[in-house]
Amino acid sequence: MVENKKKRQSSRSCDILIIGGGSAGLRAAIEAHDAGAHVLIISKSRKGDPHTVLARGGINAALGTMDPEDNWMVHAADTLKEGEFLADYERVEVLCKNAPDAVDELVKWGARFHREKDGRLTQRFFGAHTYRRTVFYEDWTGEEIIRVLMDQVQERKIEIIDNIYITKLLKSDDINGEGLVGEETGWNQVRGALGINIEKKEIMIFECKALILAAGGYTRVYSVSSSRIFENYGEGVALAYETGADLVDMEMVQFHPTGMVWPEKALGTLATEAIRGEGGILLNSRGERFMKNYYPERMELGPRDIVARANYNEIVNGRGTEHGGVWLDVTHLPKEKILDRLPTMYEQFKKFDGIDISKEKMEVGPTAHYSMGGVVVDEKCKTKIGSLFAVGEVISQIHGANRLGGNSLLDTVVFGKIVGGEAAELINGMREKRKTGEPLPLRLDDNSKKEFEDGIFVVKEPVRFRDEIQELMKLNVGIIREESKLKNGLKGILELKKEFYSKDSILKEFKIDDDDAENVVLTWQVKSSLVVCEAIIRSALMRQESRGAHYRSDYPKLDEEKWNINICCRKEGTEMVLFKQNVKEIKGPLANLLEAHIKPEHQREFE
Ligand code: FUM
Repeated sequence: MVENKKKRQSSRSCDILIIGGGSAGLRAAIEAHDAGAHVLIISKSRKGDPHTVLARGGINAALGTMDPEDNWMVHAADTLKEGEFLADYERVEVLCKNAPDAVDELVKWGARFHREKDGRLTQRFFGAHTYRRTVFYEDWTGEEIIRVLMDQVQERKIEIIDNIYITKLLKSDDINGEGLVGEETGWNQVRGALGINIEKKEIMIFECKALILAAGGYTRVYSVSSSRIFENYGEGVALAYETGADLVDMEMVQFHPTGMVWPEKALGTLATEAIRGEGGILLNSRGERFMKNYYPERMELGPRDIVARANYNEIVNGRGTEHGGVWLDVTHLPKEKILDRLPTMYEQFKKFDGIDISKEKMEVGPTAHYSMGGVVVDEKCKTKIGSLFAVGEVISQIHGANRLGGNSLLDTVVFGKIVGGEAAELINGMREKRKTGEPLPLRLDDNSKKEFEDGIFVVKEPVRFRDEIQELMKLNVGIIREESKLKNGLKGILELKKEFYSKDSILKEFKIDDDDAENVVLTWQVKSSLVVCEAIIRSALMRQESRGAHYRSDYPKLDEEKWNINICCRKEGTEMVLFKQNVKEIKGPLANLLEAHIKPEHQREFE
């Protein structure tokens, strides 16, 4: 480590820098390391405590242990249908074909997934799956996956530095030296990152030959979210966008039907879909099992967007509970089953509200849960910027307009493995040419003032900005959208953006060694939120139809003729410009299966 005491600054070099210590980042690190690369993982959360640990209900794979008719094609068809056919079908094929191997690998590495008495892995139902397909460890599958991936990372002695918050990706043309350019890398390649060590309160510069962004999604731009208060402000998406990568499907934000609504401090915390998968039912304040009015075919196990809107509709039409939710009820299930399959939920409701869910109903409502939109990457998880890869919730086009429950953990391990291999291949190719494995010299030095000035600053009232953004999003860009509100939301975001960058807001004297370290994080959460909110709203305004998670009350129908397209956002100068791109036509055996699978029942108008 190179230290510069005077400036409280230090630097590190590696072959592949991975931003994000969740399951996507860890799986990528394992693959890249095994292919010979020197990998460094940096994470803003504590080691072993990324957002992935909140993924509860399970991971999908068409193993057919419970329903032998299942296979990868049905899994792919369910995924595409749930996503209202906005996903890239080839990515979906990769996801579903590789799922059984990905789960086998986790089992081989020690994942303690639930088993039947005869030893088969248990698979449970999740919403909108044709068959029981979700493998699980109780109701904290994400934590179990992190546990086994961390074991593998530690066994390989891959270094993780936690408490690091990245504010800027550095490109070769940002960096001072000739040492960073050569025919093998060229200009305009991502060659590092700038940020701070929150704990040590020092500026950090990382130099790398390839960078993998695995920094999560953007659902914390909503105040009611299943993400914790410190995560998922779209930092990864904004970092890529500011570096020149394109974004796509940004309007597609998934609201999970069942977040806690009470007590207030638990607002938004996930009540896993596994509760309904294990037989939980939804009731309104009149005691009616209202899903029969919205999706009688599958009731509580309908597509997530439909169940979320049904809950919302009951609440806003006066059939909600005292605290503005609906009831989720498992009191008819045997207590042993609840304790065996849903122990975390049992504890969570006990801890927050003193409720014994085996005897009393849970109060729940929609919570912002997953961002289907994100950074555009190719099938190997490469962005259009040289040496910049991305994986996990930060990317797009795997889940389309709506994600099938249980597919996100799967996506992280399947594409984590792919991106790790690809980044290592790039490094090995460079090494071959240079005939040396030595890291290139780091040249961001005292002369690089601009990088520090643009790359790290603090605003005076970051929390006020954050709260105002979340309020605007709640009021104008929620689960049901319409033009006038979207326009109002955009106006508000653009005004806040102007204020945020004004001379009055930005603190002139920035000192890393006081409270400013915390304020850098808060400032950058706001900076990122402003980018993603603008992209969400502009895209939502452009898409004049309803599809998956994007529901427009002024355009309540899906419009296949006009809107079978992806909406992309690109930074041009200081402006965000939008453009359309055709969705890839589905070809091959999946196309035939889908002919039989497609039913136009997804989009419904509510009274
Ligand atoms: O409800 C849940 O356990 C969420 C799972 C998922 O989003 O995949």
